[in-house]
Amino acid sequence: MSSVIKENRLKRFEGKIALITGAAGDLGSTTARLFSEEGARLVLFDLPSTEPKLKQLIIELLSLGSPAVIYVCGDVTNVEDVKKSVQRSVDELGGLDILFNNAGIALPGSLQQTSEEDFKKTQDVNVYGAFLMMKYVSIKLIEAGKGGVIVSTSSYAGIKSDETIFAYIASKSAINGMTRAAAKSLAKHNIRVCAVAPYMLEGHVLDDGLEALADMMKGAEAGPQEKEAIKASIMGRLVQGCPMARAGKMKEAAEVVLFLCSKEASYITGVVLPVDGGVTA
Ligand SMILES: NC(=O)c1ccc[n+]([C@@H]2O[C@H](COP(=O)([O-])OP(=O)(O)OC[C@H]3O[C@@H](n4cnc5c(N)ncnc54)[C@H](O)[C@@H]3O)[C@@H](O)[C@H]2O)c1
Repeated sequence: MSSVIKENRLKRFEGKIALITGAAGDLGSTTARLFSEEGARLVLFDLPSTEPKLKQLIIELLSLGSPAVIYVCGDVTNVEDVKKSVQRSVDELGGLDILFNNAGIALPGSLQQTSEEDFKKTQDVNVYGAFLMMKYVSIKLIEAGKGGVIVSTSSYAGIKSDETIFAYIASKSAINGMTRAAAKSLAKHNIRVCAVAPYMLEGHVLDDGLEALADMMKGAEAGPQEKEAIKASIMGRLVQGCPMARAGKMKEAAEVVLFLCSKEASYITGVVLPVDGGVTA
């Protein structure tokens, strides 16, 4: 994933501290770059296996003028890791204002193809992990009494059905419900809660997903040419299902996250905003 080209951006997040989960991934790192360019101090949270990527990202952000950035290795499904990420933000950066609740996994499979293990694993990371982050960040935001913003990453698949990703649909539908419920209960604390719901974005998840679906449809033993043809036909169908007839770019989704976290969105809460080229229109 190439870095975002330095632009003359607004400085909407000067003095703000944002915690990003899944920060080593495509959307997390793209959003981290934009937040950083707009003056935010950052906590980057991702699995221990991503530590080299997190270190590399920190070097890049500091070289581009980041005011402060730290990383926390951990698992969003582990309550101690979640609490640690929040506490380190307070102890080392001086507080917390924004959560980008973005860590997630996508395991392909229809209802019949999805194993019990894959279903549980998907809900564990995408729902339970997102819940833990929302819970412990909101407790800290309420304690601090200065309001705040929580934006989670949903998906078009939480709005519109797609028979090839059953467990993922269940998990992103849950994110949408949690977003609305948390928005209602946290409004009195001046904490806004929203979600972005992208369609397929150009990146490794799309590439890996095409590969896995091609294997499922034809078997891993399909020849390279046959597999490429299947992948092209799946991609063709995906593009056909999008009125704008293309995948989105990571930056197109990241910009919407920043908007929802900004003062410009000060009267918006409880929304799941599609970033999908019209797929769910
Ligand atoms: N890529 C797309 O087309 C697309 C479309 C719609 C929604 N989304 C959602 O966007 C989010 C980010 O996706 P991405 O495309 O950047 O994928 P990605 O795989 O590049 O990033 C996801 C990150 O989450 C981290 N992660 C996974 N499990 C974790 C755990 N238990 N604890 C902590 N971190 C964990 C991974 O290590 C990874 O760095 C996900 O929630 C995904 O469902 C992606």
